[in-house]
Amino acid sequence: MRISVLSLLLLLQMASVFAQNKAVFSVQADKPGAAVSATMWGVFFEDINLGADGGMYAEMIKNRSFEFFKPLMGWQIRNSKASGTLNFGPNLLMINRPERAETNPRYLQVTLNNTPKDSLGLTNEGFRGMGIKKGLRYDFSVLYRLQSGNAKIHLELVTEKGEIIGTGVFIPKNTGDVWQKGETSFTTTATEPKAKLNIWFEGTGTLDVDMLSLFPGDTWKGRKGGLRADMIQMLADLKPGFIRFPGGCIVEGHDLSVRYQWKRTIGPVEDRKLLVNRWNYEFAHRPTPDYFQTFGLGFFEYFQMAEDIGAEPLPILNCGMACQFNSAEVAPLGDLAPYVQDALDLIEFANGSTSTKWGRMRADMGHPAPFNLKMLGVGNENWGPQYIERLKVFQAAIKREYPNIKLVCSSGINHSGELFDYLNGELREMKAEFIDEHYYSRPEWFLANAKRYDSYDRKSVSKVFAGEYAGQSDKTVSVNNKNNWRTALAEAAYMTGLERNADVVQMASYAPLFGHVDGWQWKPNLIWVDNLKTMPTPNYHVQKLYANYKGSQIVPILYKDKMPATGQDSLYASATLDKGSNELIIKIVNASAKAQTAEVNIDGVKKLDAKAKLVTLQNDDLEAENTIDLPTVVAPVEKEIEVKGKKVELEVKGYSFSVIRVKL
Ligand code: AHR
Repeated sequence: MRISVLSLLLLLQMASVFAQNKAVFSVQADKPGAAVSATMWGVFFEDINLGADGGMYAEMIKNRSFEFFKPLMGWQIRNSKASGTLNFGPNLLMINRPERAETNPRYLQVTLNNTPKDSLGLTNEGFRGMGIKKGLRYDFSVLYRLQSGNAKIHLELVTEKGEIIGTGVFIPKNTGDVWQKGETSFTTTATEPKAKLNIWFEGTGTLDVDMLSLFPGDTWKGRKGGLRADMIQMLADLKPGFIRFPGGCIVEGHDLSVRYQWKRTIGPVEDRKLLVNRWNYEFAHRPTPDYFQTFGLGFFEYFQMAEDIGAEPLPILNCGMACQFNSAEVAPLGDLAPYVQDALDLIEFANGSTSTKWGRMRADMGHPAPFNLKMLGVGNENWGPQYIERLKVFQAAIKREYPNIKLVCSSGINHSGELFDYLNGELREMKAEFIDEHYYSRPEWFLANAKRYDSYDRKSVSKVFAGEYAGQSDKTVSVNNKNNWRTALAEAAYMTGLERNADVVQMASYAPLFGHVDGWQWKPNLIWVDNLKTMPTPNYHVQKLYANYKGSQIVPILYKDKMPATGQDSLYASATLDKGSNELIIKIVNASAKAQTAEVNIDGVKKLDAKAKLVTLQNDDLEAENTIDLPTVVAPVEKEIEVKGKKVELEVKGYSFSVIRVKL
């Protein structure tokens, strides 16, 4: 084959253009900078979108204690002798009892008069149905009292179409006037996403029932009355550094009477006073009238879960201010004592010895060892001088008793502007340890602000907690928001800026965490679920790659003009060293449609392994989304790539996020 001189020149020219077009990075592996905090990437949990009740809390019966505003919401009365089925039938009474008047007053009294099976009972619809698995054990329990007579409780799990897929029987004992807990278990014969539970009463006598409950046998760690294992596993897989709990606006309440109060969430579940969930009525466009907080997932379960998955607990407490979007009620400064006491007592509950009141309570609930709480948030999205005044009272009291507890303080709802600047200034003056910044913004904002923390004061003792953020494909609170690849890629690009500034930013969490496909109020969410399945969004994969490949120290990665890549040529990059695995971890985001060749030169090392690991998230379509039925449209792909001496060359595809791990 003959090649003319001209074509040879042309080829050489093309090769040199290609070389020039390479995106050349240099990593200064011998110049490690700040430590990446162990708590850098965490999760934000709030009971929104059926996150707890109907979600992570595995209870399948809705309104188990008849304490919803409408006592029979979620229930259907089955009485073949009554003309209407939704009334309190002639043999069914709803009664209030004085001894539990504060926490759980209502119960159901069933009068049986030689009542045959299948003629008198109740059907519970579950939370958007019940997700039932074939061959699994289900644990039914009830609080009951049978003064005389002989009664039986028959249980039937039925499909949406009415086919029976599991049956059980519970025979109450004669208990006189004393309430007792009764339990029975049974195994199912089929899988059904939208099952219902029939409860039939048979026999004679007066049977009082309350806390009718059904849990799957496969809860997280097999704990009775526990949490949905697949949802917790999704969190555990993230390897989060912390779990923020319980929110979110839910901390504040519409007014102070319905604020979140942690003391009401511990102890026996039947005594945890139910509260209307603020997301029940918050959005006129997404009303959820059956949304209540039973607190089955309360503060004890929260601390336990955080411990299980190795995350630091980060509780956020009410600061004496209700939601400023709602009533904006504030507790007068003179009346703040109970709020402050709640905070002090929570620290004692988590860390106190078993000889203290609240430490004893923790031990009685099954955890004598302390939970080792290190941080506490005071207020969620609170702002203005009223917040600062109240925060100062908390700060003084908490620091006096617990000087080592770090406080997380709110910078309000905006990431910039007058309100933010005021709080940011005041909080730094007060030497607040963590300033909680929130940004729910368009993807373009995330792309344009990857430099945000490059100019933050390195000397300030106040560190940033990016406590709630998520790319909004439409706008905040819009029902059209999507968890698409566009938002996830923008977040990945932005997070290079968080990582690069790990000396300033020490915690970050995407929000909200969970959304139930049939019961959401807010979009987007990190993880979507239905009654049986969980679905990672592209945003979840981004969070997971950051958290799983965190590294322990940042190292400089420089691009053009020896500057960090913060969007030049649509490229973003950060790098860390991981002392544990002795790896260099390089993250590169290509936010353009065009594939680019990246050349990464690693300076300051003697030798590198000949192979590096590459994980890529990529999709040509920025609108791509995962769904419950197609959960892997955007999913990580792993492969090995070659390392040539001290150089790694790879193609960073259009719209991609690449994580490269090179062994030193
Ligand atoms: O994450 C949803 C809500 O957004 C949170 O409850 C609140 O803190 C923020 O406004």
